[in-house]
Amino acid sequence: MYESHYGLNSKPFQLTPDPEFFFASKWHKRAMSYLQYGLSQAEGFIVITGDIGTGKTTLANSLLNDLQNDIFAAQIVTPKLSPDELVKMVAAKFELDVANKTKADLLKDLESFLSALHQQGRRALLLVDEAQNLPLETIEELRMLSNFQAKGKPLLQSFLLGQEELQPILRAPNMEQFRQRIVASCHLAPLTDEECRAYIEYRMHHAGWNGANLFSNEAYEKIYQFTHGVPRKINTLMDRILLYGFLEELERLDEEAVENVVKEVADEMFIPEPEEEIKKHEVTELTPEGHEVKDIEYYKNMLNELVDALDNAISHKIKLTRYIDKLLKKKYKTYVRLKSDDSD
Ligand SMILES: Nc1ncnc2c1ncn2[C@@H]1O[C@H](COP(=O)(O)OP(=O)(O)OP(=O)(O)O)[C@@H](O)[C@H]1O
Ligand SMILES: [Mg+2]
Repeated sequence: MYESHYGLNSKPFQLTPDPEFFFASKWHKRAMSYLQYGLSQAEGFIVITGDIGTGKTTLANSLLNDLQNDIFAAQIVTPKLSPDELVKMVAAKFELDVANKTKADLLKDLESFLSALHQQGRRALLLVDEAQNLPLETIEELRMLSNFQAKGKPLLQSFLLGQEELQPILRAPNMEQFRQRIVASCHLAPLTDEECRAYIEYRMHHAGWNGANLFSNEAYEKIYQFTHGVPRKINTLMDRILLYGFLEELERLDEEAVENVVKEVADEMFIPEPEEEIKKHEVTELTPEGHEVKDIEYYKNMLNELVDALDNAISHKIKLTRYIDKLLKKKYKTYVRLKSDDSD
């Protein structure tokens, strides 16, 4: 709609993850290197976590886009799949016939398929997106699939992408076997303020923008303040700012323009006003027992003190155990001596 006003040949801030628009921020570059490193290892699991809208799917799509023909990649986006459903979905994604097959049949078919691929000098890669939705037993099933081997070489490698909730799932005590197969993991953080600006300029230029500065410095600052550097939020806001500039026939977009759009967008998206947010934090929250909830530093210090106290207690226990040990040895020697005296 507004493209011609800015001389663009496409929409610069689409919401669909498009590898063409991939911007390599510090974290995206790092995560991409992990994925590529993982690929070169050809085994184990790579885990990428990140806040909502930080670019996990975009990253996966960019990787898939660059893959060579020797890798057969399948991508699954998981609702809450049971282990059996996972096996079925993986088989289907590798284009196997899944109709009326039992799980045992499917596993057998999968193994034959993966072995055949291996014999052709190719290998299989499974990309699991939204992996935070997987129940523990389904992740365990994924681990079982990674056990398919030919001459000691694993036949299937998997990458897991998920929101932050994936981390506690993988930290669960009964996930040790899975954890030991993770060859690399990385967390995607939002963009910094400088990256936010570079991201906007990059996408604008990629869509054909070749004018001078369209946004003032203050406008960039406002955009960062509102979006906290989360790419999806930047895209949504930027799309609206460009629309606003077009409707208002603006040549340059300044702080005021951004503020106006932020107000509109915040209303539509039910985002609390900044003042309300500040007030919210000022209100003293209480635990169910009526104790005041303190800030995070308070709890960090408390935990550090607790760790020191536990360390002390442990080293006391060790000293005590050594002392008892010595005492027992002494007693035992006395006992042996007395016994030999008796027998003499
Ligand atoms: N590195 C990047 N380069 C270009 N665009 C990006 C980048 N990261 C994210 N985006 C854009 O931000 C939006 C959200 O990205 P994406 O869908 O990949 O996030 P996500 O982390 O998978 O989100 P969710 O947690 O909801 O699954 C998309 O429109 C995408 O185009
Ligand atoms: Mg995603």
